[in-house]
Amino acid sequence: MIRGKFITLEGGEGVGKTTNMKYVQQLLENTGRSVVVTREPGGTGMAEKIRDILLDRQSEGMTPVTELLLMFAARSQHIVHVIEPALQRGQWVLCDRFTDATFAYQGGGRGMDVETIAWLEQCVQGELRPDLTLLLDAPVATGMGRAQRRGDFDRFEQEQVEFFERVRQVYLQRARLNQRRFKIIDAAQSLDCVQKNIAEAIAVLS
Ligand code: TMP
Repeated sequence: MIRGKFITLEGGEGVGKTTNMKYVQQLLENTGRSVVVTREPGGTGMAEKIRDILLDRQSEGMTPVTELLLMFAARSQHIVHVIEPALQRGQWVLCDRFTDATFAYQGGGRGMDVETIAWLEQCVQGELRPDLTLLLDAPVATGMGRAQRRGDFDRFEQEQVEFFERVRQVYLQRARLNQRRFKIIDAAQSLDCVQKNIAEAIAVLS
């Protein structure tokens, strides 16, 4: 059995992840792939419960350490019960966010130590890393404007502009350091252009 590929979609708030997740799924299915579409934090019953705690604005006083550990706790469940079995069955896994989000949000946004995150990554994931990461990048003001129109903020969306600037910078920095894995997509372009860039990146992987 040929192992499937693991694709992740990343980006700040309001960059069009939902629309483009569907687009990537369609592209892959059109080429006959069996695709498991999932998300983080979440993707299993227990991990979705952890997600609820993480996003709930009532989770007042959650420390950055608790937040970081909950992200990895949810991830461990997700990898063992969903991602790894699917890849081993030869399915492709398309995941809305993964560990790059932890480096960006908990590392960049919250200022958690990068080496601690890298240690947890190794501990929880072993050798598992995405084969391709599509980073939807747009100026923070553009993304936040779109997110605001959706209304009803969760615990992350209520953060200030500076937080999301740090998130964006870490994403871009990681993309520059891992050019073989990352493809940066300019999400401020028209949807047609965004999707053309996405299709090119996926074609290289196939
Ligand atoms: P979503 O809104 O894209 O579904 O993601 C939920 C929120 O969780 C989003 O604001 C980013 C945040 N997040 C982290 O802070 N760290 C992580 O590791 C992941 C996967 C998500």
